[in-house]
Amino acid sequence: MGPTKRFAFPEGFVWGAASSAYQVEGAWEADGRGPSIWDTFCRQPGRIRDGTSGDIAADHFHRWQEDLAILSDLGLKAYRFSISWPRVLPQGVPPVNAPGLDFYDRLVDGLLQRGIEPYVNLFHWDLPQALQDAGGWPRRETAYRFAEYARLVCQRLSDRVRWWITHNEPWVAAFAGHYTGEHAPGIQDPPAAFQAMHHLLLSHGLGVQALRDEARQAAQIGIVLNLNPVHPATDSDSDRRAAGRFDAVLNRVTLEPLFHGRYPEDLTAQLGPLFSMVEEGDLATIGVPVDFLGVNYYSRTVIAQDAQVPLIQAATVHPAGREYSQMWEIYPEGLREILVRVWREYVSGGRPIPILVTENGVPVPDGLDFDGKVRDVRRMAYLRDHLIQVRHALADGVPVGGYFVWSLTDNFEWAHGYSMRFGLTYVDYSTLARTVKESGHWYGQVVRANAVEG
Ligand code: GCO
Repeated sequence: MGPTKRFAFPEGFVWGAASSAYQVEGAWEADGRGPSIWDTFCRQPGRIRDGTSGDIAADHFHRWQEDLAILSDLGLKAYRFSISWPRVLPQGVPPVNAPGLDFYDRLVDGLLQRGIEPYVNLFHWDLPQALQDAGGWPRRETAYRFAEYARLVCQRLSDRVRWWITHNEPWVAAFAGHYTGEHAPGIQDPPAAFQAMHHLLLSHGLGVQALRDEARQAAQIGIVLNLNPVHPATDSDSDRRAAGRFDAVLNRVTLEPLFHGRYPEDLTAQLGPLFSMVEEGDLATIGVPVDFLGVNYYSRTVIAQDAQVPLIQAATVHPAGREYSQMWEIYPEGLREILVRVWREYVSGGRPIPILVTENGVPVPDGLDFDGKVRDVRRMAYLRDHLIQVRHALADGVPVGGYFVWSLTDNFEWAHGYSMRFGLTYVDYSTLARTVKESGHWYGQVVRANAVEG
């Protein structure tokens, strides 16, 4: 390897790791937790590739102190986790299940005792089954139930929690859950998908208002979006137009309502009836100012025109000759591209708020070597190369405030079950023993140096 260069990050840059309740907690029935749509979905044959579920997951519910010790040992200063709505409200609505909320009380106190900032995400796809039975996200009422849940959690934790995320990747909850059906609740119904998208965004706006009302100290409130650069497979007009349509339905369908107060005009022009659920005042609610934007980045999307694909006539293609992980093309420069675009086209137009990289990571086959180490060199290279792109985005003028690795530990990767490992920490699922991988030790050095060598 040639001489390395040192990429230093700004003073105060926030270094963290992320997780989500359903993927790590387990204890699916402990202390009165109610069922979520993912508990239901995992029990439907064929939904999860290896037939598993989050019933136990990484058992974070019981082993959280061990996991917080790892955060502390690595010198991380922030931990992004989600709250299980059905653990707090087993039926999705009051009364509060006090032991459920007590778990997050302990978690927040444990983080603060270790000098680690809690970044609390209110929703990471695990809708209470009771609310699904009442119609789920396609039903407008669910948005109001979300704001009620946000208010109750804020009342308990906001004396200690400053950083709040309303939603993680609402696009995935809407479209993987209601269009492709690959995620819970496993519906394949385009109108329901767009209704879910709208009500998830509406619930974000209502949730921000609830948090601002209830917060007992100055709260930093934001939302986390999955955003991919969308590139045409060739420079043909048909592929370029297909990429534009896909960009509208993947990226702009959330960015434009949140930051421009409208749905993408090309999308509403093409799919008008699918937006008939929008009511007067909704877009003003959705566009309520936030204090930061979280961007989850994994890879780019390459699109070719395909007349066989309904609605958008666009299909994902996978270019030959590129490096791939177990799930996506490895494309570090796409992180800089999306950060610059989102900053220049959306975020910088309003109050100057920071952008956080709230997830970045890679699934590569990991295993314990003879000496008990996990030499995940491909993950180290992936994280290094993406952090260098973050540094370039900072030099381009994008106010990137922090970076969270997905994920702290190996965990339940939704429809992939436990076949994909993303963690900085290896979990032996037969014993639940944790082993910090080489990437975790490496990341700890990056955090301590506030710089990456590349
Ligand atoms: C997401 C989710 C995570 C995933 C991770 C890997 O971004 O899809 O937030 O829950 O596990 O991204 O797919």
